Amino acid sequence: MGKDNKKKTILDFQLMKDKNEKITFLTSYDATFVKILDEAGIDGILVGDSLGMVIQGKQNTLEVTVEDIIYHTSIVSRGITKAHLVADMPFMSYQVSKEEALKNAGRLIKEGRAESVKLEGGAFVADTVHHIQKAGIPVMGHIGLTPQSIHKFGGFRIQGRDEKRRDELLRDAKILEEAGVFAIVLEGIPAPLAKEITASLKIPTIGVGAGVHCDGQVLVIYDLLGMDNSFFPKFAKRYANLHEIINSAVRNYIEDVRSEKFPSEENSFN
Ligand code: KIV
Repeated sequence: MGKDNKKKTILDFQLMKDKNEKITFLTSYDATFVKILDEAGIDGILVGDSLGMVIQGKQNTLEVTVEDIIYHTSIVSRGITKAHLVADMPFMSYQVSKEEALKNAGRLIKEGRAESVKLEGGAFVADTVHHIQKAGIPVMGHIGLTPQSIHKFGGFRIQGRDEKRRDELLRDAKILEEAGVFAIVLEGIPAPLAKEITASLKIPTIGVGAGVHCDGQVLVIYDLLGMDNSFFPKFAKRYANLHEIINSAVRNYIEDVRSEKFPSEENSFN
């Protein structure tokens, strides 16, 4: 394999931070989509518990199960040749005990074929992070507007605007680094705070709604592609309007079937 075709590992992400090269992550949930992202040269893929919302149509991520993540990670793994594959640990799969967390992280690696796992939280999950990574499983941290804590936050609210929470997030990032995470997702925090956290850490930060100064960025692929025409989050940029493209393609198909333009001779067998 040539240099560009090499499989990305957590060591590459550290090298990229050290060389000031931005790291690109996207979420993905199936083999067909991920093959396109992988071919385009994405560095990392996250099978996020956002699948509860964008795949399962739920209001939040709280009902996603370990089985859901294993299923989607295993099918995504079949479409990847180069990108690093991270699987999200769903709500209540790592909070009860570090032993249960390790067991579940192990299932995401063995049954899902993930190469690392991600979990949400700061100081509270430090022991768990340490326990999982000691077993040889790389762990990605996730702090800020962590969607598994929306009920505690009173909704999807930007975190770290007041001094107390700001200091807490700075401390959490340091504690997670010491516990052994290889990178931290910073979600929904003010850009100046993300800049300060990024400068304070040796490991990379990956931002979503955290401004330009993070070492890398992650987006939910459906937000980037404009699949939902009722959802325009400020933190995301639409690089396509697939909602319109798909809607128009399906309308054309319906019209063609009704007017017997499809299937034509060309699409038929003798
Ligand atoms: O579940 C998810 O997709 C995520 C990313 C947005 C970071 O956690």
